[in-house]
Amino acid sequence: MPKSNAVQRPAAEFLFSAANFSEIPKSKSREFCVCGRSNVGKSSFINHVFADNRLARVSKMPGKTTLANFFSVSDGSVWVDLPGYGHAQRARTEQLRWSRLIGDYCEGRENLRGAIWLCDSRHVGLDIDKEAYEWFRSLDLPVLPVLTKTDKLTRRQQSENVKKFTGLFHPEFEPVLFSYAGELSREVFWERYYYWARRQRQ
Ligand code: GTP
Ligand code: MG
Repeated sequence: MPKSNAVQRPAAEFLFSAANFSEIPKSKSREFCVCGRSNVGKSSFINHVFADNRLARVSKMPGKTTLANFFSVSDGSVWVDLPGYGHAQRARTEQLRWSRLIGDYCEGRENLRGAIWLCDSRHVGLDIDKEAYEWFRSLDLPVLPVLTKTDKLTRRQQSENVKKFTGLFHPEFEPVLFSYAGELSREVFWERYYYWARRQRQ
């Protein structure tokens, strides 16, 4: 028998990619971006929460996602998988394009309603993440923090790092613990996401 109070998992479908902000068509749909450091697990996160491994490309090498990839979500919103920040191994011109793309998008996208911000649960409080968070705050961009790769930590380490994270950032919403290694974090994520997303501007 289906659980009556289970949160529905929406489906997602790839829409288009953009290399520069000027290429992105205007939209009236509520949009949410997935952002974070290079290699933190943004694309894996998208694939896991939608239970569809064909949605986003994943790699062991940082710098896999080089474009902003747009997905339509069956709840009527649009999600955007952004390139990662803080990746130093790519050519300087590529890094500049990415940071311009991320910057222009977050600063200029009128229908952007919030950022799902991924940080590695093992490395809480990196300078680059502190800078990113300050910047979100300066933009008044609502943030849902997600701590990734928790399968690499013990329960005790997870709760210590959540404490460290909340002590450092004082986020409006507690971070969601996430790993692609289990069904549970998918369910927990959707529950927390809908609670958060409902509170953002229509
Ligand atoms: P860029 O597009 O390069 O910025 O990376 P990304 O943030 O999209 O990361 P991606 O999803 O490509 O994953 C990077 C690496 O981390 C891959 O080797 C994934 O398999 C691994 N990874 C992602 N999520 C998890 C997780 O929950 N647990 C573990 N153990 N590994 C993960
Ligand atoms: Mg990626």
